[in-house]
Amino acid sequence: MKRSIESGMNRSAGFYSLFARLLGMGFIERSIHQCLVGRKAQKLEVLGPGDGLGLSDAIQNFEEVRLIDLSQKMLEKAREKLEHSDIEYVLGDEGDLSLGGLVFVPFVLNMYSEEGQSALLKRISGLMDQGQKLLILDFNPEQKSSPFQAYLWILYKGFRLITGIPVGKLNNYHLQAMRYFEVLEERNFAKACLSARLYRKVN
Ligand SMILES: C[S@@+](CC[C@H](N)C(=O)[O-])C[C@H]1O[C@@H](n2cnc3c(N)ncnc32)[C@H](O)[C@@H]1O
Repeated sequence: MKRSIESGMNRSAGFYSLFARLLGMGFIERSIHQCLVGRKAQKLEVLGPGDGLGLSDAIQNFEEVRLIDLSQKMLEKAREKLEHSDIEYVLGDEGDLSLGGLVFVPFVLNMYSEEGQSALLKRISGLMDQGQKLLILDFNPEQKSSPFQAYLWILYKGFRLITGIPVGKLNNYHLQAMRYFEVLEERNFAKACLSARLYRKVN
């Protein structure tokens, strides 16, 4: 799966942000911004920053920023776009998380099957200290009956078909996260079609 994500995202790096904006999905960008803005921590680690959509202003409150992505081309786009005095671009995956700081995972979990999500969350948790915080922002898996959610999911499926990344169903990654983390805060965006949860590692 990671290989198809990597090649699909490399293929779409040139038009990813434009695609999101043209389809009226500016709320994705805004949700990323709103999720982070006002938070303060020494270090921010973003797993799956893509081309940096929504991150420009929001990362300024953090002293150190690490952006970890499978896609070289998306990281290059992020590098062109973002400015920060201490920012590290890491071509890699969750295994490259370092200890400490706030871990932010924006619109990544939806790309994986239930098993993939489970493995990803287990690996992320294994690299975190007790009490460390994880912020997950993604399509809200508990909002499946909403017509707006269905519309968003169709657009997103189109994107995945164009880029050759297999589409699955939207599994409830929140339930899986509860194995390792407890919820500290919850916030929804875009008619509750997007959800952000701040977790603290407990197991
Ligand atoms: C759908 S894009 C979202 C990008 C950006 N966060 C946004 O919301 O616009 C998901 C990004 O996560 C990256 N990604 C997926 N799985 C990853 C993993 N295990 N480790 C690091 N990056 C990953 C992909 O390469 C891609 O750039």
